[in-house]
Order: sequence, then structure tokens, then C-alpha cells
Amino acid sequence: MQDTVLPVTPDWAERALIDRAAYDDMYAQSIADPEGFWRDVAKRIDWIKPFTKVKDVSWDPDDFRIRWYEDGTLNVSVNCIDRHLARHSHHVAIYWEGDDPRESRTITYQELHDEVCRFANVLTMQGVKKGDRVTIYLPMIPEAAYAMLACARIGAVHSVVFAGFSPDSLANRIQDCGSEIVITADQGLRGGKTVPLKLNTDLALTQCPNVRRVLVVKRTGAKVPMQDGRDIDYFEAAAKVPPVCQPVEVGAEDPLFILYTSGSTGKPKGVLHTTGGYLTFVAYTHEIVFDYRPGDIYWCTADVGWVTGHSYIVYGPLANAATTLMFEGVPNYPSVSRFWEVIDKYKVNIFYTAPTAIRALMRDGEEPVKKTSRASLRLLGSVGEPINPEAWMWYWRVVGDERCPVIDTWWQTETGGILISPLPGATDLKPGSATKPLFGVRPELVDADGKTLEGAASGNLVLLDSWPGQMRTVYGDHARFINTYFSTYRGKYFTGDGCRRDEDGYYWITGRVDDVINVSGHRLGTAEIESALVENLKVAEAAVVAYPHDIKGQAVYAYVTLKAGQPATPALADELKAFVAQHLSPIAKPDVILFTPSLPKTRSGKIMRRILRKIAEGETSNLGDTSTLADPAVVGDLIERAKHIG
Ligand code: WTA
Repeated sequence: MQDTVLPVTPDWAERALIDRAAYDDMYAQSIADPEGFWRDVAKRIDWIKPFTKVKDVSWDPDDFRIRWYEDGTLNVSVNCIDRHLARHSHHVAIYWEGDDPRESRTITYQELHDEVCRFANVLTMQGVKKGDRVTIYLPMIPEAAYAMLACARIGAVHSVVFAGFSPDSLANRIQDCGSEIVITADQGLRGGKTVPLKLNTDLALTQCPNVRRVLVVKRTGAKVPMQDGRDIDYFEAAAKVPPVCQPVEVGAEDPLFILYTSGSTGKPKGVLHTTGGYLTFVAYTHEIVFDYRPGDIYWCTADVGWVTGHSYIVYGPLANAATTLMFEGVPNYPSVSRFWEVIDKYKVNIFYTAPTAIRALMRDGEEPVKKTSRASLRLLGSVGEPINPEAWMWYWRVVGDERCPVIDTWWQTETGGILISPLPGATDLKPGSATKPLFGVRPELVDADGKTLEGAASGNLVLLDSWPGQMRTVYGDHARFINTYFSTYRGKYFTGDGCRRDEDGYYWITGRVDDVINVSGHRLGTAEIESALVENLKVAEAAVVAYPHDIKGQAVYAYVTLKAGQPATPALADELKAFVAQHLSPIAKPDVILFTPSLPKTRSGKIMRRILRKIAEGETSNLGDTSTLADPAVVGDLIERAKHIG
């Protein structure tokens, strides 16, 4: 079957920052002379001390380093705020739209400056210094951006924990990075429901004796217990400090933030990003991928708790003096027209969301979209998971009225910013494909043995060279960083994704090939969900796999073996689902729990997940080789059980 192709329209070819000829030239140059290319790009940053070295990278596990612009110094908050004040002090930096449509705030660059300085002063007064880790557990309110930028201003390293995570998950992340300060809110507000953030923090901190200070931002005004000597009302403290704060000069390779993300095994990894290369990369990609122009209203619907929020709500747009919209709510509250109403309210030009949101909204048909104008829209972006062609076409046709290119951006927490994506004026679009590599990005497909695949092929996606926004280490575990990413295919960065390349050189990401599950664009590790399940005293053993889900992309299927004497009842299944939601996150809640007396294991005791995946998918006609199983009869039994659960 021939893929649909939507050629670049003449108006886009005419007006875009980068057209096809420019893309071809610049891509060739970026590969031939990466140093020259990235030296030029970094001119967009205000350096305090200019760098003399551009790049020093070796991915050889025995001689490993990743350094960009290493002898330059800068301050990220100055780049995102102060340097814009001369010309843009009265321009809007952040539009904040509350969960309740009657609540909104407009923050100019001058106000952003003042608020970030106050926040930085409060942190300094609490003894936070350069290099200290600060955990941020906030809902989508402007204070989340202020707190991040305040850390950057004083050289502290933030670790934002998504407000949907449980007390246990928060505690693990606080312990891993050793932060002594937590910033939270009394409550969050999403879809009309409150989220007990301070309460969760209090629970988490019973496991974190090193936390000496909690700053509490009032959001709903609910009465929450404040622990004497530890907890501080943020607004009261902020009222007492001046709205100016001297920025701290930091090195390009000093850490900017840690962000925890799930991997195949073990606990979530603290992905560490540094300062100069990261900022250069996110600012540049924000401009070229979205064809961002001064004056544009830009909206990314992600949460600041994920990397998309870091790079494309806060750092990239603000470094470009853009107006970035922050949305506290959800797509279907108070109605399923909410996204489109917000677009009309603020005259949004560039809209960036996740396929899962599109698929959910598709269910309600076209009318809730069509009753809004959306005339301001110029470009639509997608991120977080593969976008199926059907959702792509609906986004393009119904939301964008066939006027707006759909830009499917592939990247990861580890990559810091977008690596594979169309450019709206340069790339003919194919629904479902992230299309072509951005500048300096060298994708390759390899087979399981690491053999390079040429031309049209399917395989594992690796990258052959560095880019400035690449993560630098796993916090506290550099060996794990090298092992996870550079040892499977020695000297190459392994993405963990499967991918197809077609005859036009277009890349089609097919999803994770490891034990990472992508539920509604949220990354979860099977190991994390399994360990949450076995924390329950009734559970003996658990194995978790993904199965395809119409709206969420993937959903969680858990095989559970109970301890002797525990009856396998539907009530217990519900109890375990709630247990995972409470102990890990509501996102991780299993959709299906299948009780089984035993799991399919090899004679050496390894669970055969391949078989569990097939059973979860309902693909039981071809299970492949089961001869290595210790007890092949387990499989037939599982298939029978699965039939009764579906
Ligand atoms: C998946 C989110 C297909 C992929 C920025 C990747 C995608 C993982 C796309 C990273 C896309 C992200 N098409 N798959 N456009 N974008 N992914 O770290 O499997 O939360 O490895 O970063 O999401 O998820 P993460």
C-alpha cells in the first residue's frame, strides 16, 4: 500500500525559516562539520565567558566523555529572562490558564523576572547554594516555572517530580538525589478534583529524614498541616524579599536539572542534563521545528513534570522570548471542547500535544472541535508516542482544517530535545512518520546482533553522534549510564526504540523494544509496576507486560501469583489496582489483572515475557518456541484464564 504524502504547501515553502534546499545544505554541513555547525548555533545564547571548545565527545565505554562548550559560562535564567527585558519587558512570557476556565493569569517578562528573583532569594535564605538539589513537586501553576528558573538563577539543580506520583515515588526520588528542600503546594487542581500534594509530601518525608525545609505554595487555600521548623508558607516568605537577585555564573557543563525516568530494569534513573548545550539545543529546536516567530502564541499541553514540559514549556520558549501558555487542566473539563476553546481564547498559533489526547477527543466526534474557530492555528505538533495515521489525519483535517502541518517529533528524556521531526517548510509529511533527522543527528538501524541495516529496513534505532542536548549521566551512577545506552551496541547510543526506515529515508518509530511501557505518552518500567505489586502482602509474584490500547496507546497487563490461601477474587483485583495507583502512580494502574498459580518460566527461572505479551495481545495462535519452558502446560492454562478475563 502506498503511504499518503502531504507535500510542503507553497505558502510554507515560501515563508518558513528553513525550506527544503536549506535543510539539505544545513544537514550536510552539520554532519560534515559538527563543530562549526554547533559553534554557530550557540551564538543565540548569551555567554558570560565565551567558550573556546565546542565539542569533546567519545562514546567508547573505555574512554567515555560528553562535553559541549565546556569552558563557556552562562546563567540560564538570564538567558530566559533578563536579556529580554530591554525590548520585551511588557510582553507576555506566560499565559496561565487554570483548571477552572474563569481562572487565568498573565505574566510579563518583567513580572517573570521579579517572581523568579523572589523565589531565588527565598531559596538562598533557606541555605540553598550552587550544586544543591531541590525537589519540586508542584501542579501546573506559574510557580513551577518560577521555581525551576530560580534554581537555575542560583546554580541549584532542580528535580521536578510529576504531581501525579505517589508519596513512595516522591520519597525515592528525594532520597536518590539527596535533596534537603522540597517545594510543593497545598493541593493541586485537575479536572475539578483536588490532588493532596502537601499530604503526599508529608507521607513521603516520613522516609526522608534529610529534608529540612518544605516550601508550600498556596494553590487552593485548603487548610493543610504545617510542621513547625520545617514547613514554610512560600508566599509569606516571598513577600519579605526583594524582586532582584544577582544571577550565579555557572559552567556550561554544570548540571541544570535531574529528571527521573523509567528504564527496563531497576528503579527510575536520574537523567542529568547540563547547562550550556541543553539550553542551546532546546532553544534552537523550539525555533526551527515549530517555525517559531516573535509574537507567536505557543502552547504545549505537557506537564512540567515531564521532559516535554522542561524543554518546550519552560526553557526553549523562554530562551526565545516567546509567549508560552501553561495549562493547569485536562482536555475534557469542563467539556471536551476545552483545548479548542483555550486556543480561541488566547489566539494560539502553535499547538503541541500528545497522540493519546487526540485519540481520546476523536471519540467525541467533530462537533466539539468544529464549533470553535481555531483560525489562529498555524502548526500542530505531536510528541510522546507513535501517532497512528488515523489520529494524525483527524488532527490535520478536523483540528487544523487541512491548513496546519502536523509535526510529529520523536525524542526522549535522555535526548533533552527533539531529534527526528519534519520541518514545516522543508519536509513532505507522511502521516505516522516522524520523518527525518534534525541537524547533527545521525540515526542508524541495527539488527539484534548490531549489524548495520542499509536502505529500507526495520531494526533497532541507534544514534552515531552526539548533540548538545544529550544527557550527561545517570545521577550517582555513571556506570549505569554507559551500560544502559552505549554497551548494547558498543560505542553507539541505543534509544530502546524499534524503527522502520522507508525507501524515502523516512523514519517510522514503532515503539519500545525493551521493558518500558508507554501509557498515554507516560513512560513506565515493567519492573517498577511489578515491585509495587509485590509490595502488597497478598502477592507472591507479578509479571507485567504492555498490550495495545485504543486511546492510551499501551495499557498495563499484570499477571499475578497470590500467596497461599489468598482467594483470587475480582475484589482483590480491584484492590491491587488501587494499590499500584497509590504506591506508584494512577498512571501505572493495571488495566487487567490475571491471577495465575504459576508463570511461564525457563528452566533457569527466567519469566518468558514474550509469551505473556502474546497472551495479553490475544495473539495465541503463534506463540513461538515454548520448548525451553520448565512446565509448558502453564501456557495452555494461562490462555484459558485470559479468555475469561477479556
Ligand atoms: C516514545 C518524551 C514515536 C519513544 C519526549 C521514546 C515516540 C519514548 C515519539 C520517550 C514519537 C516519544 N513517535 N514514539 N514522536 N516521541 N516517543 O522519555 O518510545 O517520556 O523512546 O520522552 O517515547 O519518552 P520520554
